[in-house]
Order: sequence, then structure tokens, then C-alpha cells
Amino acid sequence: MKKIFLLSLILGIGSGVSGQERVSVKLHPEQAQYTISKHIYGQFAEHLGACIYGGIWVGENSPIPNTSGYRNDVLEALKKLQIPVLRWPGGCFADEYHWIDGIGSRDKRPKMVNNNWGGVVEDNSFGTHEFLNLCEMLGCEPYISGNAGSGTVEELAKWVEYMTSEGDSPMANLRRQNGREQAWKVKYLGVGNESWGCGGDMLPDYYADVFRRYAVYCRNFDTNRLFKIASGASDYDYNWTEVLMKKAKDKMNGLSLHYYTIKEWGEGKKGAATQFTEEEYYWTLGKALEIEEVLQKHIAIMDKYDPDKKVGLMVDEWGTWFNVEEGTNPGFLYQQNTMRDAMVAALTLNTFNKYADRIHMANIAQIVNVLQSMILTKEDKMLLTPTYHVFEMYRVHQDAKHIPLETVSDTKVIRERNIQTVNVSASQKDNVINISLTNIDLKSDKKVRIDLSGMNIRQVTGRILKAGQMNAHNTFEHPDAVKPDKFTDFILTDGLLDIELPTKSIVVMELR
Ligand code: AHR
Repeated sequence: MKKIFLLSLILGIGSGVSGQERVSVKLHPEQAQYTISKHIYGQFAEHLGACIYGGIWVGENSPIPNTSGYRNDVLEALKKLQIPVLRWPGGCFADEYHWIDGIGSRDKRPKMVNNNWGGVVEDNSFGTHEFLNLCEMLGCEPYISGNAGSGTVEELAKWVEYMTSEGDSPMANLRRQNGREQAWKVKYLGVGNESWGCGGDMLPDYYADVFRRYAVYCRNFDTNRLFKIASGASDYDYNWTEVLMKKAKDKMNGLSLHYYTIKEWGEGKKGAATQFTEEEYYWTLGKALEIEEVLQKHIAIMDKYDPDKKVGLMVDEWGTWFNVEEGTNPGFLYQQNTMRDAMVAALTLNTFNKYADRIHMANIAQIVNVLQSMILTKEDKMLLTPTYHVFEMYRVHQDAKHIPLETVSDTKVIRERNIQTVNVSASQKDNVINISLTNIDLKSDKKVRIDLSGMNIRQVTGRILKAGQMNAHNTFEHPDAVKPDKFTDFILTDGLLDIELPTKSIVVMELR
């Protein structure tokens, strides 16, 4: 503490210091202990608005260029993200979804009303085969979110059999009739979604029993091994985690958690995605960073019941949630995506990296056209959001060893907390160290010094995502307004890396 204070004095760090402030970072590769699961960089696709229909799936007869019904432009962009895992079909939609309606000949599939999201008609043309084939095309693992709200145990058990049974079983034979001989590998299985709310409005004790029952009948067929995920808490509901860990930890492999940076619930009360004040900018980033406290508290409960960390924490929905864009269906959750969203993504991923000894997976909400998406589409046009670029730049942390570090930075008071304006994460893989740095300060550039002594670094390269305005974003007219660039504002001398980190920027440095 004393040492940090002295260092702060020498460097002139502290709130209120104006101009180009100094920040110091010390890496501790010798303390590296655990690997950052690549699944922390996961995605989520729900039958909601234009996420699936129009965003990913246009059908084979669409004038939009497609491969077997999947839009080519979106597919190509998603492949570049190296998505490790994709959660589907919801969200709230999952607990009203009946998988049996989404198999077989598309023109014979029954329709349903999507009660959760705009009351539109769902024609079930995107079902199990379409989803699992998409995962194969993207090279990612599927995460099936099962219906435990309005469905039955038998229904979910049979879905697992349909997808994963290799033998002469009724559901495997039905799959074969529908054109798929080989069973898919499906590891991640969620039992319900937000079971305390849209997924059945259950109380934790009751849901713990429901989960146990589903866990019995959702079986491992042949060589497939399920990783069973219990529907977890939202935000500050620590009691839900307590009860689930106490009553069902022996049956689960993972327990979920949802966290959105929502200012106020209610239609039109969440603030605009592109028109916001400086105060709102900092508020959102402060709320994003508050996830650290929330994680610590849920993890402390999990540690109490599961000190060996066998149960993974799955943050299977997270991200920003603003008012929908004007003129769009309020039930479609379509929002623009600015540099503020990119900051939220970078800060949150840095935080997940830090707790990766417990966090097994995280899935940003959502992949295309919904909430904090990677991609927005409009008919045959597509754009990549600033959040997409963060995920692309951060791929380097997937399955890399987390390097503990200390940052001494000036701070800002946001939501009554002292927040460091520079946020850093580092990892190591194949003798390459990657450091991601975010400067949330709207006014000041930062002089960052990273102490790399004893690490024998010879070569450094970098990439930067920055924008002149906090609300800079890509539009269909200007799709490249915000995109990563080469970063060269640094000097390496005698084990010290000095970086000029501009205001409102996200930088990833590669050190060899
Ligand atoms: O991601 C949108 C919705 O947010 C999901 O359907 C639900 O699980 C959550 O409340």
C-alpha cells in the first residue's frame, strides 16, 4: 500500500491531475495459475427480432447471397471472430420453444407466436438442424438452452436423444429420417432460462428440485457427455445462488448469471444508444465495472459450497441494454452500438479474464441485430459494430494463461466509487504475451509504463480501436467509421514499455 502510494507520488498520479496522466502497470507472469477459458468469448443467438431471421438466416430462396439459407456476409464476419460457443434458442424464447416443431420438412413445420418478443409469428424454419449445422460451419460448440418453463422433462430428454444418440434409438432414427445420419456432439445444456422470471416465475427451492429432476433424465448418450447448466441469478440475487448451490450443486456442472448495464427498466427509460451525455457514458461504464463486485459475491457463495471450483460460473447473458432505435418494434430490442459499447465489452472481458478460475463461460447478448450485437443488418447490407472489433482484437486471450497484474492509475468517481481510468488485462500463450488496455477517460491521453523486467521481450506490436467522439458508431452509409488500426505510439527500452494511450481508446499489444 505504502509502495503504491510512493509510486503514485513519483508519477504524479491521483484524481484531479489534469493533462496527460501517468499510469503504471506491473505484470506478474511468475504468478500465472489458470487458463482463460475460450468460452468466455461466447455468443448468444435468440429467436428475437432480426437476430435469427434476417440476421443469420434468410432461407435458400432469398435474393440475399446465402449458403444453404445462411447469409454469406454474416457467416464470413462471424468466422473471423473464432466464436468458441453459441447459445440458442433463448433467452425467454427458450422456455416456450418446442423443438419438435422445428424439425422435418420446413414447409410442414407448425407455426407459433413469439409471445415474448413482439408477438410475431415464428415459422420454425430455423430449428435444431439449422442451428447445429451453423455451429459446424462456424467451428463453435453449441449451447442448447432447454425449455424447463412450459415444456416437460420428457421433451428435453428426447431432444438430447435426438441430437446426440448414435444408436438404434427412436429419436436417433427420427433424426436420420430428417437427413442427419451422424449424431452431433452437444456438451452444453441449459435447464431453463431465468427460471425466476420469464422462465416460469419459480422460487429458488422449487427450481432446485426441478433442475435435479431434469438432470436425471437428460442423459449421456454413447460418447456424448453433457455439461448441465442450472438457470442462475440475475445481478444481485445472491439468495438464488445460495439455494441452488446448497440444494443442487452435486447435479450441475455450471450455474448461470445474467448482468446487463440497464439504467432503468421500462419502455423508453433506458437511455438512447447513440445520444447520451458524458454523465451517462461514465454511468454505463461504472455499471459495467460493478460486475466485478457482483462476481466476487456470487463466487464467494460458490466457493463456500464448492471450494474445488468444480461448478463453472456461466455468465450466459451480459451487455448493454438501451432504448430501441426510433421507429423499430419495441419487442425487437434493436439498438445501435457505439464506442461506449466497445468500452463496456473491453472492461467486462478484462474482468472476466481476472476471474477465469471460476468463470467457465460468458455469452454476450446478442450476436446479430439484438442489444449489444456484433453485427447489424439492413436488408442486404451489413455492418460490424465497435463491439465486434473488441471481440476480434480480444481473440488472443482465448485459452491463454491469465497473468496477474497491478495497475496504478488516476481515478474518477463514478456511481460513488473510485474507478481507475485505465483498465488492463494480460495473458500468455505460446510464448506470446498479450496485453489489453482501455482508457475510458473522455479528456485525457495517458502515459502508460509497463514494467516487463526479467521477461526478455524483444518485439512489440499493437492494434488500437479509438474514436474522436464517445458516441462514434458505424452506419450502413459509413460502415468503417470505427475500426481497428495499427498502433505504434510506444517505445520499448530496458524492460520498460512506454505507451501513449489516447483518450477513448482500446489497445491490444502483442509482446514476444
Ligand atoms: O437477451 C434478451 C433477454 O434478456 C433474454 O431473452 C432474457 O433471458 C433476458 O431477460
